[in-house]
Amino acid sequence: MEVIIFSGADQVAEYAADIVGQMLAHKPDCVLGLATGSTPVAMYRCLAQRYRDGALSFARATTFNLDEYLGLDSDNSHSYRSYMRRELFDHVDLESERTHLPECAPGEDPRAVGPAYESLINKCGGIDLQILGIGRNGHIGFNEPSSSLASRTRVKTLARRTVSDNHRLFDSPAEQPGMAITMGVATIMDAHRVLLLATGEHKAEAVRAAVEGSISAMHPASVLQAHRRVRVLVDEAAASRLTLVEYYRRVHTQAEWIAGEFSVSGVCDPWFQDGDG
Ligand code: F6R
Repeated sequence: MEVIIFSGADQVAEYAADIVGQMLAHKPDCVLGLATGSTPVAMYRCLAQRYRDGALSFARATTFNLDEYLGLDSDNSHSYRSYMRRELFDHVDLESERTHLPECAPGEDPRAVGPAYESLINKCGGIDLQILGIGRNGHIGFNEPSSSLASRTRVKTLARRTVSDNHRLFDSPAEQPGMAITMGVATIMDAHRVLLLATGEHKAEAVRAAVEGSISAMHPASVLQAHRRVRVLVDEAAASRLTLVEYYRRVHTQAEWIAGEFSVSGVCDPWFQDGDG
């Protein structure tokens, strides 16, 4: 795994926005996998600013979000559809019919949503770049500890810790859903490239277990160790429990040097140089 350590959360956001910008430049009709939560908000602000500055365009892109609560109308201000409108969709030139979340319409069988979502992702050619946050319990999407590493988009019951971590976002406990529809672990692993963002000391243990712990369904993010193209972007606080910090820094410096010496013209990052995806 490539672990890149930044001085602060703003630098994580800027770098993540750089990668999304390069993805859009390299493949304007790319498929982006998006996350919600507190962590990517700063990245979405950078992307909206760069769009206003004319530095990038989402006009031909397609998006698939990781997850959506079950039991909230998409117009509910707490739904992830509303979050995405607030943080990104309303500020850039994405075509709304090309923005997807695993939403369950009133009266629809929630068990039918996952297979349809998977087919749509496949029909669009798979996810070129997936953005992830990480839960304090190691979840990615809403794949809570014990989720099958072979799981696909489906209904999941939220862990108590996830519900309590997100209490602050709801006016009353009665309003807060206990279930969601989430991409599965295997769905995430199928993405061609993955960027995992984590900031703050409260994520340090989850990051350590994901990067340096054993691969286990009890810490779903750890399965990313088996993915070919993952970058873990952390600030100093989220990196504070990693044991190989000095090594990750050296790897990054040397990779940047090689990229500078041997870059293919017009392509800034080796991630985008070797074709697949
Ligand atoms: C969000 C998602 C979750 C969050 C995770 C971290 O779509 O799937 O896995 O990424 O809960 O949330 P924050 O960033 O709020 O700490």
